[in-house]
Amino acid sequence: MNQDLRTVMRHFATGVCVVSTFSDSSGTREHDVVTVNSLTSVSLDPALISLCFRLDSRFLKDLRESGVWGVSILCGESEAEARAFARNAESRRASLSETPHHLGERTGVVLLEAAGWMECTFRDELVIGDHVMVIGEVVELGSRDARGPLIFLQGGFHTLELETAQLP
Ligand SMILES: Cc1cc2nc3c(=O)[nH]c(=O)nc-3n(C[C@H](O)[C@H](O)[C@H](O)COP(=O)(O)O)c2cc1C
Repeated sequence: MNQDLRTVMRHFATGVCVVSTFSDSSGTREHDVVTVNSLTSVSLDPALISLCFRLDSRFLKDLRESGVWGVSILCGESEAEARAFARNAESRRASLSETPHHLGERTGVVLLEAAGWMECTFRDELVIGDHVMVIGEVVELGSRDARGPLIFLQGGFHTLELETAQLP
């Protein structure tokens, strides 16, 4: 059944973002960043977004504890980052040290150089099946000039040339 759902959903094109949070449990703040395509806009007023994570996700554990996270929406040039941040936590940490980023002013989470970005605080969560849907309130956000997005479709990454011609 799960296989059947994946077989169908692979035809649904999504954007790709990286989500960040941190853990202070070791006494030193450790940031983590994962590639995610379950981002959904939920509400405009208040501004709410949702993400879904595997119930046993290590990243989710940190996110639930910190109560804050960042979302960086990737453009087509960021396929290497999308691949790097889909690996295990140790590999993700090594990749982050080599990836240009800054810390969000409101929450201190990592933000990458991205087409659009948001800082979120925990609003609600729903355990559904083998995943947890996390709802976040957007407390800060920004975007850059539109560039071609990174797209995930049929198990692979793709880019899209944006039509730059303006309508008369
Ligand atoms: C395109 C793409 C989209 C992904 N989307 C999600 C997602 O929405 N939720 C999720 O839990 N993992 C998603 N992953 C997997 C994560 O990037 C990462 O591998 C996983 O969270 C690692 O598990 P951990 O948190 O236990 O270390 C995605 C991976 C790729 C390549």
